[in-house]
Amino acid sequence: MNANEKPPIGVVGVGWVGLVTAACFADVGHPVVAMDIDEAKVETLSSGGALPIHEPGLLDLVERNRQRLRFTTEMTEVLEHCRLLFCCVDTPPTYSGDADLSRVEAVVAALPEGSEHALVMKSTVPAGTGAAIRRSRPGLVYVSCPEFLKEGTAVKDFLEPERVVIGADEGSESAAEMVADAYRPLGGELVMTDVASAEMIKLASNAFLATKISFINEIANVCEGVGADVREVARGMGLDDRIGPKFLQAGIGYGGSCFPKDTQALKQLAGNTGYHFQLLTAVIEVNELQKRRVISKLTKHLGSLAGKRVALLGLAFKPNTDDMREASSLVLAARLQGEGARVAAYDPIAEARAGELLPNVELADTAVEALEGADAAVLVTEWPEFAELDWEELAGRMATPLIVDGRNFLAPERLRAAGFTYEGIGRAPEPARTRTPG
Ligand code: UDX
Repeated sequence: MNANEKPPIGVVGVGWVGLVTAACFADVGHPVVAMDIDEAKVETLSSGGALPIHEPGLLDLVERNRQRLRFTTEMTEVLEHCRLLFCCVDTPPTYSGDADLSRVEAVVAALPEGSEHALVMKSTVPAGTGAAIRRSRPGLVYVSCPEFLKEGTAVKDFLEPERVVIGADEGSESAAEMVADAYRPLGGELVMTDVASAEMIKLASNAFLATKISFINEIANVCEGVGADVREVARGMGLDDRIGPKFLQAGIGYGGSCFPKDTQALKQLAGNTGYHFQLLTAVIEVNELQKRRVISKLTKHLGSLAGKRVALLGLAFKPNTDDMREASSLVLAARLQGEGARVAAYDPIAEARAGELLPNVELADTAVEALEGADAAVLVTEWPEFAELDWEELAGRMATPLIVDGRNFLAPERLRAAGFTYEGIGRAPEPARTRTPG
């Protein structure tokens, strides 16, 4: 390696975080060896096929850096070339609510005893994991470097971080410096701290953001009772610097790969130490109930949902991703079916992933097809194309022009002028319409 060459970086686990990490480090000049046990995935990535995930800008980044980016199923290849090993395997929740660390443990087991390698933990793990790993493997060089990227803007989040958290304990300081060197060119504040604090920063950040969402969702529910508009309330609150305007969009609850899992894991972690985290328990419960509130908004206007056709617009847990993990649509579809409704759905890109998760849901090729003959529409994900629909025409195609806008995304005045009954979240509700018998 000459003086201008950047040190090689190993990435273990090529999921969302791993692939973004690999492509971005390659883009800033590091040779990267990325390893995954999934042979088909490695084959697709190596041969330049489509990416296994939909993430804006990522394909371009992978293609542009092909000569610095190698995908493999062999851990030995990573160990041979790289000292820094970024661990990006997933840590799904177990039935008990704890994080399943078996994939992390497999990575640790693959490191030869007494090796020079540094394990850089990007996977979200409970606070205390780093210490436990080092107890089981004394002398292992270990750095905690939690990831904060958001799906849909992951490449930008990685390349322009607001902060990078790097935690290391005694004996791992020089590896922490190497990690800091890798991140320094990206800008953003480097938070150099100990391992346990770094682990807690990640869990506490996600729990706090989830708290903001559940808080504004409860405010929305109160707004409906008092005739206030939650969007106005959030605007007024957000202008206070101490509160800030972000993560105050009321809706039908948070989903995705992080918030549900990390809030649950932090609650469990606290419980394991003998502390009952009351606030977080409420945050999780509010989120569960919020997904279900749509049902009462529909029955208010339609009466029983048995036999009614309800069209879900959007399935992914948020726009610009095809990720269906913990998407509100899953709970909603099942609840609607539980009420006897026939559920149709449309999502611009998540349908391929959604199919097996949504049994007996009619997956339409277009929004119009889903809405045809529907008794109600529920906007689940705020895909921009839903604002562009010809709602005036659609009012005539639906059996009942009723819409529940689960993300407060559409303009109520326009929808009402088009003949719709419009229900948002935390906005002045409409009086129940007179129902025709039957
Ligand atoms: C989140 C964190 O933002 C990120 O830092 C962490 O690394 C992973 O978890 P992500 O899951 O990709 O990222 O999505 P995010 O954009 O944060 O949205 C999460 C969920 O919250 C979505 O379902 C979204 O619809 C919902 N949300 C977000 C709201 O309901 N209201 C808001 O105001 C913001």
